[in-house]
Amino acid sequence: MEVIRTIQEMKQLCKKYKEKQLGFVATMGFLHDGHLSLMREAKQENDIVVSSIFVNPLQFGPNDDYETYPRDEDRDTLLAEQAGVDILFIPTPTEMYPNPMMIQMGIEKRTDVLCGRSRPGHFNGVLTVLTKLFHIISPDKVYFGLKDAQQVAVVDALIADLNFPTELVGMPTVREADGLAKSSRNVNLKESERKEALWIYKSLQKGYQLIQNGEKDPKKVIDEVIKTLESNVSGKIDYVELLSYPSLEKVSTINQPVILATAVYYEQARLIDNLLLNEN
Ligand code: PAJ
Repeated sequence: MEVIRTIQEMKQLCKKYKEKQLGFVATMGFLHDGHLSLMREAKQENDIVVSSIFVNPLQFGPNDDYETYPRDEDRDTLLAEQAGVDILFIPTPTEMYPNPMMIQMGIEKRTDVLCGRSRPGHFNGVLTVLTKLFHIISPDKVYFGLKDAQQVAVVDALIADLNFPTELVGMPTVREADGLAKSSRNVNLKESERKEALWIYKSLQKGYQLIQNGEKDPKKVIDEVIKTLESNVSGKIDYVELLSYPSLEKVSTINQPVILATAVYYEQARLIDNLLLNEN
């Protein structure tokens, strides 16, 4: 595996592999099985796998955890290599943003809900860094985790609206043994928080059960999730929402593919999770 730190080298290398099928996995590092599942899938489906590790300052708000976001480049390099990554791109913030950006990316739809509402500007920062990375790497296929389902919906819009010649692959959420969605931020949980955090997934499952039993009213499902969270979780609920997917619009009755999603604030980490339901 080659580790590349400059945009120029990265561009040259990707040009060299122009005739090959190239898969790309963007990450912010502190890799876990969720990230690695994307890399392994990319390895199966492509000749060359490129991955990036870059904690993107543009997608963090002033009260977000940019400074405390966990980082471990040596461990990540080993794990990425084992997962089949051929080229690992690790730029510095100055390499990616040598000057303040003159262009601002913005998205009109799919972001006035869920994390987009709680983290103003977050998805603009995600779109900016991904546009840069897609241009630098020119991937044929890009792999994103459905744990961040809103991000997948936003990348889907980016690729469609701006005609990126790349295919989006959404991958299922990888979980800990107790059901907690794997996240780099889980290490910032206190022991007691980590123990109870499994209820985030369990609460969503409670809502899912209602739908499976024929409930069509989104409010009833949301209330059930809130009730279960409130009885089992000490963190503060940011949101519980049920929306169409991937358009992320409010639904009055559940008769189409929907996402049931939640976010919970703990002291040092904000955790998100969701279930995607293919209801017709
Ligand atoms: P990061 O949080 O590091 O996640 C990188 C990729 O791994 C994303 O596509 C994310 O959805 C996926 N992922 C994280 N946890 C997962 C899990 N438990 N199961 C499956 N996939 C999982 O998302 C970002 O970084 C950034 O916003 C980025 C896209 C790199 C842009 O800066």
